[in-house]
Amino acid sequence: MNFFEISKIFSAVLLTIIVVMGINKVADYVFAVQKPEKAAYLVPEPEETTSTKSVSNDSSMESIKNLLVSANIEDGKKVFKKCAACHSINKGGNNKMGPALWNVVDRKFGAVNEYKYSAALLNYEKNWTFDELNAFLINPKGHIKGTKMAFAGLKKEEDRASVILYLNENSDNPKPIQ
Ligand code: HEC
Repeated sequence: MNFFEISKIFSAVLLTIIVVMGINKVADYVFAVQKPEKAAYLVPEPEETTSTKSVSNDSSMESIKNLLVSANIEDGKKVFKKCAACHSINKGGNNKMGPALWNVVDRKFGAVNEYKYSAALLNYEKNWTFDELNAFLINPKGHIKGTKMAFAGLKKEEDRASVILYLNENSDNPKPIQ
C-alpha cells in the first residue's frame, strides 16, 4: 500500500464522516422538532386545598352566615311573598296555614304554642339557627321528613340568605350576623 492509497482511504473515511455529520445537521434543520412547552407526562401537582374543597364543595353546606353579610333585607321582603300565603311575619301576627314567624330565628323548633305542628317538626329538638333555616329552606321535606310545610324550597342561595336576614330582622332581638 503506497502513500497515495492510504491517503485515498483516509480521505474516504473523512468524507464519510463529514457527509454523515452534514446529513445530521441538515436533518436537524429540516425536521426541527418542536419541543412541547410542557412535558406530556407531567404529573399534576397535588392541590393542597383538595381536602377542604371536597368538604365545602356543596355550597349549600357552607355557613349561610357568610352570605348574610352581603344579603339585602329588601330582597328578603320580596322573597318572603312566597312564604306570606302561609306565614305571618309581623309582631303578634296570627298563625296561618303555617306558624307565625315573628322571632323565629334561634327559637326552638315548633315553639308556637297555639300551632299544631307535625310530629316530625316537634321531634326535631333543635333551634332555628341560620344554618338550620338555610338547610330547611333549600328543601323543607328533604331536610325534615314528614314536615307538613308544603313548599318546594328556595333553590337560590341569595334568596335564602336574604329571606333569612329578613326573618332575623323581624324579631325582638335580631341575632348578630357576624
Ligand atoms: C304552603 C304553605 C307554606 C309556605 C308557602 C311556606 N311555609 Fe313555612 N311552614 C308551613 C307549615 C304548614 C309549617 C309547619 C310545619 C310542620 O309542622 O311540620 C311551616 C313551618 C315553617 C317553619 C318552622 C317554624 C317553627 O315554629 O318551628 C319555618 C321557619 C318556616 N316554615 C319558614 C318558611 C319560609 C321562610 C317560607 C318561604 C320561603 C315558608 N316557610 C313557606 C307552611 C308553609
